[in-house]
Amino acid sequence: MPYNPNRKGIPHTRAVTHQGEDEVDQPGTRSPHPIGLLGLGVYLPERVMTNDEWTEYVDTSDEWIVTRTGIHTRRIAGDEESTADLALAAARAALADGAFEPADIDEIVLATDTPEVFIPDTAAYVQTRLGVGHIPCYDLGGSGCAGFVLALDIARSRALADGRRVLVIGVELLTRLMDWEDRNTCVLFGDAAGAAVVGPDPGAVEIVAATAGTDGSKSHILGVEAGGTRVPTTVERVEQGLHKHVVMRGREVFREAVSRMSAASHQVLEKAGVSIDDVALVVPHQANLRILDAVRKRLNLPDERVFVNVHKYGNTGSASVPLALWEARDQGRIKPGDLVLLTAFGAGFHWAAALLRF
Ligand code: UT7
Repeated sequence: MPYNPNRKGIPHTRAVTHQGEDEVDQPGTRSPHPIGLLGLGVYLPERVMTNDEWTEYVDTSDEWIVTRTGIHTRRIAGDEESTADLALAAARAALADGAFEPADIDEIVLATDTPEVFIPDTAAYVQTRLGVGHIPCYDLGGSGCAGFVLALDIARSRALADGRRVLVIGVELLTRLMDWEDRNTCVLFGDAAGAAVVGPDPGAVEIVAATAGTDGSKSHILGVEAGGTRVPTTVERVEQGLHKHVVMRGREVFREAVSRMSAASHQVLEKAGVSIDDVALVVPHQANLRILDAVRKRLNLPDERVFVNVHKYGNTGSASVPLALWEARDQGRIKPGDLVLLTAFGAGFHWAAALLRF
């Protein structure tokens, strides 16, 4: 991955204004206790898999995948790579981006649906390999593709309450969870990791506001049914591949995705007291080009104000938003002073949104 070692954090040019406590979320002004996004990093496995390659495994075509999803390629982790490897690489990149040492981190929250092992959590593996010391660390497991933005919301609260500097990681090795014989799901996903450092710092990108929600009554429309206490792992179930079979009601997920990502966007804008017209760029969870297009239309935005990279990486779950944000910044799509809106949805059904000011 191209990486600019000279870039420290993300430039921030707004004037600092002095306000009272009750003016924290006013538009165009700075909170008296701003929480920043202080560093951003990603990791992408080297192997690129094309749509044509999927025709060796399932009855599909490049034309079907491109027309229905907009995906052209995705990355596949190497056999020797596991979730913690991807997470660690992204974490190191985020620390370097903010010019931090591991000792500068007070807490780790890692969002993934594809953990290193069932117990303990992947954050524990990352903690020891990163050499951050005995700081608290934990996973947000099962929050689907909303995981990273949800973790960002939690990290912001931890930083606000306690002045902590939190390493937030979204990592997914989804191609290892998928059934490579199920054309309904396998062609959609890819592997990646993204990470951010969140903490109090007046010079950083400000996390102006964040919001999140869950509708547990929709838990059946997307998930893995076997492997827990409800449907325990048995030899028969493993032979049937049920422990890794992602069950998805595609059309229902599509509808929920569009309405939840749009609603979460409006909610976070309202919280921050700004309008969608003030937003320079929306960086949504990259699930499907048609979903992104529908969200764009609901938000009444032109193409150029919604960032898209799903064609290159497919759906990378909780890594998708940090990867898209990183790439938008890398491509010069974000200018100092810009408001950038992150919005995501995932299995649960969860949703989350955050508003950043660069
Ligand atoms: O982060 C959350 C993860 N999930 C999502 O974001 C998924 C959201 N849903 C979607 O993106 C879309 O529903 C899909 C891309 C999954 C499917 O698109 P669709 O337009 O809803 O298609 P469909 O499910 O209605 O299927 C249409 C046809 C079916 O064939 P029949 O029954 O009409 O003969 C499927 O069997 O397309 C078939 N099909 C495929 N054909 C070729 C399904 N997958 C494939 C495939 N290649 N890979």
